[in-house]
Amino acid sequence: MTILDGKSLSNKIKGELKAKVSALVEQYQVKPGMAIVEVGNDTASEIYVRNKVRAANFVGINARLIKKDSSISQEELLKLIDELNADEGIHGIIVQLPLPKHMDERVVIDRIDPNKDIDGFGILNKGKLFSGMKCFQPATPLGIIKLLDAYNIELKGKEAVVVGRSNIVGKPMGMMLLLRDATVTIAHRYTVDLKKITKEADILVVAVGKKDLITADMVKPRAVIVDVGINRDGDKICGDVDFENVSKVASYITPVPGGVGPLTIAALLDNTVKAYEQKMQGLTL
Ligand code: GUN
Repeated sequence: MTILDGKSLSNKIKGELKAKVSALVEQYQVKPGMAIVEVGNDTASEIYVRNKVRAANFVGINARLIKKDSSISQEELLKLIDELNADEGIHGIIVQLPLPKHMDERVVIDRIDPNKDIDGFGILNKGKLFSGMKCFQPATPLGIIKLLDAYNIELKGKEAVVVGRSNIVGKPMGMMLLLRDATVTIAHRYTVDLKKITKEADILVVAVGKKDLITADMVKPRAVIVDVGINRDGDKICGDVDFENVSKVASYITPVPGGVGPLTIAALLDNTVKAYEQKMQGLTL
């Protein structure tokens, strides 16, 4: 069994991006800029946002964190996005989700200029992804693909099962595995016999948010296991997979923490540098 070490791959990618950004800044005399909009004070969001800002600064991206009280109206938030869309110093925009209940996430996300939509959550980037066109791909599935590629894990023709159908992870993950010629099944809360489906998987990606959802008896021997879950277990963090027992059956497995999480951030920075390069070259999507 081999551990898919997301943390060291993430460090390698960030090191490469730092060198690339330094050369591009030398060339263009403009620093890449990213804006992160956080509305309200969701505890998980605060941690994610802090990590994004720190990692962006490390690679030489100006990260501007804009915190707004949850009482801000949707109109005011849309106006802020319009300002960031027009801001020449900002190449990538993130609106951290979830948003407060009085807002329509779809409307807010779709206000972001598609050329600055580094999360790839807007309808244009999503549509392009689902049509197999060049676009900004969502950071978590993009990071997972980078991780599988780094370990030379073959996807073509493989049975890939994704558990969870969220817009952020499950759905784009399924599509990205399909684009790499895997045979894809997406399982979700209404899947009648989850074990029957997961048992067939050569590649199993789990993104549900339920501790110990996947146990050793649900896994095909020699399968590749990618655990996207982040759950609290007392004062520790754990994923959706029973790591101790599943790791005895799997050929490759991601740890939690130190697997998918760090790569999500590296992939997001990669998208930001792409958005910046594109702008500097006068290209649009
Ligand atoms: N909330 C949880 N994950 C994400 C993410 O990748 N991007 C944004 N914008 N919000 C999130």
